[in-house]
Amino acid sequence: MYICIVAETGKNIDLAADLLLKGNLVAIPTETVYGLAANALNEKAVLSIFEAKQRPFFDPLIIHMPSIESIDKYAYLSDHRLQKLAKAFWPGPLTLLLPKKENIPNLVTSGLPSVAVRIPNHNLTLELLKKINVPLAAPSANPFGYVSPTQPAHANSQLGDKIAYILDGGACEVGLESTIVGVEDDKVCIFRLGGLALEEIEKVVGKTELRINNSSNPTAPGQLKSHYAPKKTLFIGDIKELIKQNMSNKIAILCFGEENFEGKDLIVFNLSKSKNLQEAAINLFKFLRLADESAADVVLCEKVPDTGLGRAINDRLRRAAG
Ligand code: TXA
Ligand code: MG
Repeated sequence: MYICIVAETGKNIDLAADLLLKGNLVAIPTETVYGLAANALNEKAVLSIFEAKQRPFFDPLIIHMPSIESIDKYAYLSDHRLQKLAKAFWPGPLTLLLPKKENIPNLVTSGLPSVAVRIPNHNLTLELLKKINVPLAAPSANPFGYVSPTQPAHANSQLGDKIAYILDGGACEVGLESTIVGVEDDKVCIFRLGGLALEEIEKVVGKTELRINNSSNPTAPGQLKSHYAPKKTLFIGDIKELIKQNMSNKIAILCFGEENFEGKDLIVFNLSKSKNLQEAAINLFKFLRLADESAADVVLCEKVPDTGLGRAINDRLRRAAG
């Protein structure tokens, strides 16, 4: 596949800040995935996020802030359980749904009374956020519905012509989007599984409720059934069985652990030979992209254990299969 690299990429925080304050889009590194950032208080700039991603307006954006203190100006972090989570996990792969204040444009929240807030754990982006002193609205830097970018080149290959600058923070250290948590019916609820494991959250606030919608009309579109989806057909199951069913196809495989498969011209991506879920999370989106760009006709995947980060990995695989 021919990849046209067009956006300037570098580590110049002053340039990124200047471009953002002038209303441009800048791709920013975080520990989870790369974000497509705009000044959240500038509606025209926010609008251009939706245009660049071809994202429907009913899909609200996460705002990124540098510190817990800085949030107070834009949202109410008043629930004591969410306060505990903020203290325990920020900066980190956690997004909290908080009642919003007037100054956050309705365009950011798709008209919802709550705003999604996150303090990302990446030095360059934290420095940038402190410098500009406005929240950055940033969805993942990929066309709507496609696999999230975990390297600057991923963002560049698909959205490079629409981004003023890419702040290069290297490969993402977590590799899965943030876990989204909020309070509904006075219960702490998980709305998206992600880079912070459910078990870690429950250690701090006790039992939570999973409210992950699978319908085609979800409340949070990160929950859309067909999302994070490569263009090739993807099957999940026992790989040896799936190989037998796909004999006539060129096959790419995403496996976890053992990889002694029999077949012709198999292209094998091992998420983690040592069965480490953290390593699998880091590799997942990179391998989905490589499998999608490979000569294979189909991509065969196996599930990982459904604990810790494994839950979010399996969730993304299911959605990638559509
Ligand atoms: O790790 C991440 O969260 C990355 C990095 C860049 O921070 N961002 C990310 O953004 O994954 P995005 O736009 O791809 O996914 C954000 C999800 C969407 O599914 C959206 O529907 C949900 O967050 N969301 C945002 N605001 C919400 C709100 N007020 N209520 C419910 N869901 C919301
Ligand atoms: Mg996304």
